[in-house]
Amino acid sequence: MRLNKKTYFIAILASILTVACIKDLPIVPEEIPLLQVPDHFGEIQIPATNPITQEKIDLGKKLFYDPILSLDSTVSCASCHPADNAFADPRPFSIGVYEREGFFPEEKRNAPALFNLGYARALFWDGAVSAKEGAYDEIEIQAVKPIENFFEMGHNFETLTPKLNNHPLYPTLFKEAFGVDTIRDLHIVQAIAHFERTLLSYGSKYDEFVESGFDSTMLTPAEKRGLILFFDEREGRNHPECFHCHGGFNFDDQGQIFRSNGLETNDPGSSRVPGMGPTVKFKVPSLRNLSYTAPYMHDGRFETLDDVLDFYQHINDEENLPLPVDSDRLMRTVGFTDEEKADLKAFLMTLNDPSFVNNPDFRPDQE
Ligand code: HEC
Ligand code: HEC
Repeated sequence: MRLNKKTYFIAILASILTVACIKDLPIVPEEIPLLQVPDHFGEIQIPATNPITQEKIDLGKKLFYDPILSLDSTVSCASCHPADNAFADPRPFSIGVYEREGFFPEEKRNAPALFNLGYARALFWDGAVSAKEGAYDEIEIQAVKPIENFFEMGHNFETLTPKLNNHPLYPTLFKEAFGVDTIRDLHIVQAIAHFERTLLSYGSKYDEFVESGFDSTMLTPAEKRGLILFFDEREGRNHPECFHCHGGFNFDDQGQIFRSNGLETNDPGSSRVPGMGPTVKFKVPSLRNLSYTAPYMHDGRFETLDDVLDFYQHINDEENLPLPVDSDRLMRTVGFTDEEKADLKAFLMTLNDPSFVNNPDFRPDQE
């Protein structure tokens, strides 16, 4: 039977979902050092349908860096998600096969950083891939999308899978990882997803501070002042409010997930996604690794972190009011002084994790 593209996607989706009904257990093998996270992260969840092994992770990494996944073999996942930038695209908009620039005109988006994905509650800026219980088991499904997206890799599994089956190396690697003689679509995304799960960033100065039992002598005076401002619970106007949206160990939003921080935009955001309601919202991104992930926001509109902080500082200035209608009510109180801005920035810098960005385990193997 010949399947058209849509049925094909649904078929892959269905095979992932059917098996996903089996109860998931947090199976995190001790022999994989990359997966051992500090206590304040909580246990990583691995879908029971795709037990994690070093062979799958290694294969997933090879696929992540291999342009064979794209129609004309020019674009790999890493083309838009480079390791040097904590796997975020340094270009405001990603370029896919045949110089195609991203999606509909109003939905050109900056490729987000990839780390701590196993803890994500949703994937994509608009939540196009999301789950009530968290998106830890949706990473496989997500990987289907860029491969098939016309503007990204422009490929389809009907030609990709035979290409891999006829490749000099891949059949052996898939056999080692999955014990199969014939590579199927599902194996491809299962391997990639496991490599992505290992992209864990927990080595920042802030993490060391937490692990020390909050030993405040580890922070400079400016970092300490910034931390207090970031988590400030004062009533009334003129305070940063950051942690109400960028909360938890990953500094994203584990509760509400989607919000509007008051940016003017033509992008429909979450309103385009069925069941998400009419308000234009975006996924609250993590504030870890900001030194590596410029430019910022869903459309990469801010080139520097100073531009971002200026935006938040002045959002309630007379000339910027009223705020866009969809703005979260928390945005109405945001504001801070120049000195406070410098302190906030010092605190945000403690969330950088050079050990993550420079980790050779996440780079292509030398062959
Ligand atoms: C042509 C550029 C491009 C390529 C190639 C690409 N991506 Fe992306 N990726 C993006 C963009 C842009 C987004 C954001 C899209 C959106 O939110 O609407 C994204 C989003 C993601 C996300 C969601 C992250 C989050 O926090 O929401 C994951 C995971 C991801 N990509 C993984 C991959 C994998 C795996 C591959 C290879 C199979 C890949 N990408 C290939 C551009 C690309
Ligand atoms: C009402 C919720 C809310 C508050 C309060 C808030 N943010 Fe955000 N923040 C968001 C959302 C939503 C985005 C993504 C918006 C978009 O791309 O359209 C975002 C994006 C960002 C980004 C860009 C990250 C990236 O990877 O592109 C930075 C940096 C940031 N916020 C820092 C802060 C700081 C610092 C504060 C406190 C001064 C703060 N935010 C307060 C919701 C909030």
